[in-house]
Amino acid sequence: MLSLTYYVLPTILVLVLIRKYRESKWAKCKNKVKLNGKIAIVTGANSGIGFEIAKELVARNAQVILACRNLAKAYEACDLIKNCFPEKPDVVVIPMELDLASLYSVKKFAENIKKQYKEIHLLINNAGVSFPNNKRVETKDGFEVHFGVNHLGHFYLTNQLLELLSNNKSASRVVIIASSLHERGEINLNDLNSLHAKKKSNLYANSKLMNIYFSQELAKRTKLKNIQVYSCCPGWVYTGLFRYSIKWYHYFIVAPIAFFFMRSPRQGAQTAIYCATEPALENETGLLYRDCNHYNSRVIFYDGIAEKLWEESENMINSVIKKGA
Ligand SMILES: NC(=O)c1ccc[n+]([C@@H]2O[C@H](COP(=O)([O-])OP(=O)(O)OC[C@H]3O[C@@H](n4cnc5c(N)ncnc54)[C@H](OP(=O)(O)O)[C@@H]3O)[C@@H](O)[C@H]2O)c1
Ligand SMILES: *[C@@H]1O[C@H](CO)[C@@H](O)[C@H](O)[C@H]1NC(C)=O
Ligand SMILES: *[C@@H]1O[C@H](CO)[C@@H](O)[C@H](O)[C@H]1NC(C)=O
Repeated sequence: MLSLTYYVLPTILVLVLIRKYRESKWAKCKNKVKLNGKIAIVTGANSGIGFEIAKELVARNAQVILACRNLAKAYEACDLIKNCFPEKPDVVVIPMELDLASLYSVKKFAENIKKQYKEIHLLINNAGVSFPNNKRVETKDGFEVHFGVNHLGHFYLTNQLLELLSNNKSASRVVIIASSLHERGEINLNDLNSLHAKKKSNLYANSKLMNIYFSQELAKRTKLKNIQVYSCCPGWVYTGLFRYSIKWYHYFIVAPIAFFFMRSPRQGAQTAIYCATEPALENETGLLYRDCNHYNSRVIFYDGIAEKLWEESENMINSVIKKGA
């Protein structure tokens, strides 16, 4: 009994205080901007960071489309979100099927959207996958999965929706969830699909670097279209992202680290929400954010890479979409 009061309780107290201290360093989106009348699309919104982003956009009165590869999970997430707002019976959350690992699915999704909506005000490119590097997984179109889902699927989706995003009443925003791991990525323009990449090259990091190059080039190309583009790093977040890489015993090793260093999905969603709503960012485009602030990447970016990545991505999409038609 004595040891409980003298050791265990103080230890717990200290641990909790350390956690609280860590949490105080993670920025929160402070603005209370409402999104009445705005229509938002969040990819991969059925879990993790995407779910929390969708929930917050709903809390701010936007209509939110949950674009998920598994429609049953999308319906479940919509119900969960609705249940969070019992005081708001007119909440609009819409489940829709989008498999970013299939360019035809992306095309079909965009066509459905265009049939139902005249404009879209917010596009949050959040969905992502991470597989172990030694495991080569392909999308339905035969692209390496990190390249295919994290970059190419979103590249195609965004381009298909540009017309709806570009309307002259108010500026629309595209928010791209990248990662600080982009700093470990590299882009081989002669092998974007990583067919010849070394076993240990970090294909996830490469795709996250592409996310940032894409946001820069997109910003350039949409300057006159009333579209603002933001990319962000959510921090290290406790989600299912690494489920394909993690083994059961890792949980014991990771748990203490997670306790001190990992954000909850809600905490991880803050910078994306900031990019989606913050009035102070209304004249900014093509920049990178972390902890609700600008982030200076260690990477030196080259315009030429951004342009070439764009062109090659277009070519790859054309080769698939034409072939099948
Ligand atoms: N967690 C971190 O520490 C961290 C750090 C930096 C950046 N990020 C980024 O944050 C984003 C969200 O990840 P998360 O951590 O929230 O992980 P998560 O919980 O695994 O969420 C990923 C989402 O993407 C969806 N998705 C996967 N493949 C898809 C496909 N082919 N088509 C459509 N949707 C697909 C997943 O759907 P299913 O549920 O059907 O699999 C899930 O909804 C990712 O872009 C990730 O790279 C995360
Ligand atoms: C908005 O778009 C319409 C149709 O494209 C055009 O006629 C109008 O002049 C535009 N208004 C502004 C303020 O740009
Ligand atoms: C954005 O630019 C417009 C036009 O120049 C200006 O009126 C507005 O104050 C600027 N907004 C911010 C947040 O700087």
